[in-house]
Amino acid sequence: MYQRVKYDFKQELIKIKDSGLFKEERTILSSQKPEIHVQFPAGSEAREVLNFCSNNYLGLASHPDIVRAAHEALDRYGFGLASVRFICGTQDLHKRLEERISQFYQTEDTILYSSCFDANGGLFESLLGTEDAIITDALNHASIIDGIRLCKAKRFIYEHSDMMSLENALKKAREGMDIWDGPGLDKEPVPARNILIATDGVFSMDGDIADVRGIIELANKYDALVMVDESHATGFLGRTGRGAIETHDALGQVDLITSTLGKAMGGATGGFTSGRREMIEILRQKSRPYLFSNTLAPSIAAAGIAAFDLLEKSDDLRRKLMANTTLFRGEMTRLGFDVIEGVHPIVPVLFRKFENDAQLSQQMARDLYAEGIYVVGFFFPVVPRGQSRIRVQISAAHTTEHIEKAVAAFAKVGRRHQVI
Ligand SMILES: Cc1ncc(COP(=O)(O)O)c(C=O)c1O
Repeated sequence: MYQRVKYDFKQELIKIKDSGLFKEERTILSSQKPEIHVQFPAGSEAREVLNFCSNNYLGLASHPDIVRAAHEALDRYGFGLASVRFICGTQDLHKRLEERISQFYQTEDTILYSSCFDANGGLFESLLGTEDAIITDALNHASIIDGIRLCKAKRFIYEHSDMMSLENALKKAREGMDIWDGPGLDKEPVPARNILIATDGVFSMDGDIADVRGIIELANKYDALVMVDESHATGFLGRTGRGAIETHDALGQVDLITSTLGKAMGGATGGFTSGRREMIEILRQKSRPYLFSNTLAPSIAAAGIAAFDLLEKSDDLRRKLMANTTLFRGEMTRLGFDVIEGVHPIVPVLFRKFENDAQLSQQMARDLYAEGIYVVGFFFPVVPRGQSRIRVQISAAHTTEHIEKAVAAFAKVGRRHQVI
């Protein structure tokens, strides 16, 4: 049997390669930090490069306090629990981390997952059914898209961060008027029972921040719930690191927050949903990734608590990250690079003036790697045509010298390709 199917898979792999979407792993021989030891391509000699493409925003992936907390938990609580949460997989650590997150976000309750992908995957179908509607930003993360696919609620997609488009969708959902959009003119409009608006807090390709304030105002007008995924914001965005919600002065005003511990908050794994008490309780009863997947390892739960403690004790890392980001954004703009404006440590460097933008993004990333700067280029269909880019990600663990080296390498390679 496999001999026949093998051909199909091989053809598919060739197609992926031909469209430039084949993903290759670069093997890192050190811990995750700004100066990493990388072996790429496979079998080649490993070399030191400066890492500008991880989500290690606060540098906690190798932070001594986090590593110590994980070590101590390993010794005291063991390696794993070999159980889902509700059978025999809940330690005081898990409860403490959930409380810590609720306190951080000023929410009523929190539920942990193995990842934010799971948090989003188990959210929608647990809370909404066929009578309900979900309204989702066109550029939301894959985990939100997949979570919504699992849910039987009616689905409306609004144009990215476009409040008029969101309002149109809300009107249709509220009045049940979406029947005019498709076949079914002979049907009576059926207004949605409950409506949930779902958005990323920060969108990972452009680093732009959702209009959380605008979304809340529309939600209030049309009596809808709001869910924000703060994965690219928890710990560092906003005055005290409480994310896009804090940037919009909206703490306590959204119904559900999902986020990850796998980026700024230590970078291992782990996710959560935090929000209204009854909804979190329903998730504990019905959410499938919570009910049918193993509990978070104790070392990760303990490191998560340590990460929130660290943020509360000092603002230094968040400030350092913002200073590094401002420096990099400023220098790159001064050099004449096409940088999407913003404040986020995701800094997309585009090639919009050039017809060969896709090749440029790949060639520049390769040449930067040769200069010791590890960044990744993205092109269509990962991003829209004409918007190929190198997505640089800044960390609090970068020193000023690291940033200056990256800028100097961009300048050298950019001039070589006549991009600046
Ligand atoms: C917006 C958003 N949500 C969810 C996730 C998934 O997070 P995790 O790695 O914890 O599954 C990501 C990660 O890329 C993300 O960017």
